[in-house]
Amino acid sequence: MAALEIPCPCVIVIFGASGDLTRRKLLPALYDLYVSGLMPEHFAILGVSRSPFTDEDYRDKAQSFAKEFATDFDQKKWETFAACLHYHAADSTKIEHFDSLKSRIAELSQLHHTGENLLLYLSMAPQLYEPTINNIGQAAMVTEGRAWCSLDRKNRPWQRIVVEKPFGHDPESAAHLNRVLGRVFEESSIYRIDHYLGKETVQNMLVFRFGNTIFEPIWNRNYIDHIQITASETVGVQGRGGYYDSPGGGAMRDMIQSHLLQVLAVIAMEPPVSLKADDIRAMKNQVLRAARIPTELEVPKIAVRGQYGPGQLDGKALVGYRQEQGVNPQSQTDTYAAMQVFLDTWRWHGVPFYVRSGKAMAKKLTQIVIQFKATPHSLFGDERKGKALPPNRLVMNIQPDEGINLRFDAKVPGMGMKIKTVEMNFDYAEHFKAQPPQAYSTLLLDAMRGDQTLYKHRDEIEVAWHIVQPVLDYWDANPEPELPNYAAGTWGPSDSDVMMGREGRKWHNA
Ligand code: BG6
Repeated sequence: MAALEIPCPCVIVIFGASGDLTRRKLLPALYDLYVSGLMPEHFAILGVSRSPFTDEDYRDKAQSFAKEFATDFDQKKWETFAACLHYHAADSTKIEHFDSLKSRIAELSQLHHTGENLLLYLSMAPQLYEPTINNIGQAAMVTEGRAWCSLDRKNRPWQRIVVEKPFGHDPESAAHLNRVLGRVFEESSIYRIDHYLGKETVQNMLVFRFGNTIFEPIWNRNYIDHIQITASETVGVQGRGGYYDSPGGGAMRDMIQSHLLQVLAVIAMEPPVSLKADDIRAMKNQVLRAARIPTELEVPKIAVRGQYGPGQLDGKALVGYRQEQGVNPQSQTDTYAAMQVFLDTWRWHGVPFYVRSGKAMAKKLTQIVIQFKATPHSLFGDERKGKALPPNRLVMNIQPDEGINLRFDAKVPGMGMKIKTVEMNFDYAEHFKAQPPQAYSTLLLDAMRGDQTLYKHRDEIEVAWHIVQPVLDYWDANPEPELPNYAAGTWGPSDSDVMMGREGRKWHNA
């Protein structure tokens, strides 16, 4: 997160070029960067996958997605951008395909004057990561590993790799993948992406907490009752049933282990000594390490799984998860997961963090709710009659409608002491008159600039897996006969409300 600088020239190689993520997110994000003048002066993008496209075929396909998903599509700009977009048919799991791939990269770097810097992006099925990484190593595409002993370190070409999620499906597979990467790349060249960290409000959490003096003193167990982190989606699995229903799928793995524990780490971290990647990542890692690992006996009390059945939203009928294509009709996969996390630190002792995520829910919402404690003595409400005033609440909306909302109590103008709870709103789009950039644009720019701040360190991923694994193990060993247990288009299973209710708390569903 250094000051904005234009990255130096490079070739970007995207493995998994015909996949959905590449077409819907990566290419539109790169195009957006180009339109904003943030791509390197010289660059080439090379899509690699097995399908036999020509450059022209690939550009045509990419264009239709850019029209749909880029922030602002402009035909002229697209054409100059697309002149740097190429395609190479190869199977990256086969070492014999790497000679021609290397020649193609060399040819493009000459054609576009990019020099030898390489950004490799793995946007493919996770079982292809390991053979692809091994082949990249075996084909000697990575020379940066020897950078530490180079006499001219500043002028050496770099090779970086961006790895998409899922990063493993349990602690062992994640550690294994880290070792596979580590045999080929140095840690400083490995960019484990989590697009939630590229979201504007998540980054703004750092500014909010550490750029202001007024919040940090109350950001602890003395003032905060609990914290909620929600990521709810109205869509179901959208044709990804086959992947989602595989042993590595489900909401706990897909959203909580990855995105939401990262958001939690940013909310809960101690102030870093600087904004450098290592300093911020060390603080996040410390939070994750402090998470209490649930015992088998605790799991049913602190975690809830759900699966949507048929339902409706806005008058439209929605199919149940088990009726989705590619899904086992007896599936036990969690399309909803909620979990209570305690951090064993001085700052957060006794403050529960509740994280939840679900598909086919009533509303698309990603938000953080900081629920403060009630005043120690109620002057204005009468607690004995159950009329205590609602305590302060800070809501940070990550999406949609990025913004911050603070709830407090105010006197209603007029005679007598009538109190009303009011809200103070800060709306990003309205205030800055600008839409936040796409998370992928932010993150791709950082990878080209060599900034790992918003990427995950090896340890963070492994520790996050250890936090959720006892829950996943318990769920595997104890099938839930009541699934599906929430209707599509609702706020999830009632057990989740019960979990909150046991402690006198409620989910914030707005
Ligand atoms: C992805 C998950 O990482 O995040 C998807 O694999 C999910 O299942 C998506 O739909 C949600 O991202 P966003 O940015 O729309 O909240």
